Amino acid sequence: MGFNCFGHGVLLVTLLLALASSLVQGQGTRVGFYSRLCPRVESIVRSVVQSHFRSDPTVAPGLLRMHFHDCFVNGCDASILTDGAGTEKTAPPNILLRGYEVIDDANTQLEAACPGVVSCADILALAVRDFVVVSGGASWSVPTGRRDGAVSPTSDVVNLRFRDSNGDRSRRIGLDTESVNRLDNSFSVNLRDGKGILESDQRLWTDAFTKNFVQRFLGIRGLLGLTFNIEFGRSMVKMSNIQVKTGTVGEIRKVCSKII
Ligand code: HEM
Repeated sequence: MGFNCFGHGVLLVTLLLALASSLVQGQGTRVGFYSRLCPRVESIVRSVVQSHFRSDPTVAPGLLRMHFHDCFVNGCDASILTDGAGTEKTAPPNILLRGYEVIDDANTQLEAACPGVVSCADILALAVRDFVVVSGGASWSVPTGRRDGAVSPTSDVVNLRFRDSNGDRSRRIGLDTESVNRLDNSFSVNLRDGKGILESDQRLWTDAFTKNFVQRFLGIRGLLGLTFNIEFGRSMVKMSNIQVKTGTVGEIRKVCSKII
């Protein structure tokens, strides 16, 4: 049984952010926000990620997707993590999200090391970066200092509903057929060769505007070529800064799945 890999998210995250740059604010977050408050935050998250990756590498794309789904509904505020009726977690597009146990583990360890300090939204952003690294992808510095938001109404989430080509959800398949377990640029090659799995992905090659980006990832235009790892890291920083809450806005949850 394969699994749905990072594949399509690579270009989509770049394109969506180019189109929606007005949403990205990012004021208030900075690299090293916890250096005094919780100096071991990055090493704690990294070791939790490494241990989960060793037992199930497919949790990596799960977390990347979770981060995207969190950020595109009312910003990156970890509202995707909360339990209960009418929450984002229970909305149809989010049913197949996975990897909550990683955040729970990191949350428990961080609450033991630095109680009430690290936000769940920051844990998610750090964990996603670490999962990308262990999957052979880019690395980047994660600006931190986010605070968590309350439950977003489910109606907002419905706008993000994805279309699937068929209803068989029992069999998982790789979205990047060439390198299922790695986060790399082979997705661009797949699109060029007509091997995109999701129709919405393959259309990135037929639309002139988006094709230009794919071609630049393929390096067809020499100096104008985009370097996959650099653009991916930049895009992730932008995405994780969408409508963030900082300072006195929002909260720090002791348990990521529960609203205080
Ligand atoms: C609006 C644009 C997007 C659409 C329509 C879309 C649609 C989908 C669909 C239909 C799936 C398969 C879900 C399943 O059946 O398990 C999927 C999986 C996935 N998506 Fe997206 N997606 C979009 C944007 C993104 C972005 C921007 C990212 C990354 C930041 C991303 C990352 C992923 C990952 C990593 C998976 C695999 C998840 C897993 O293995 O559990 N997607 N997406």
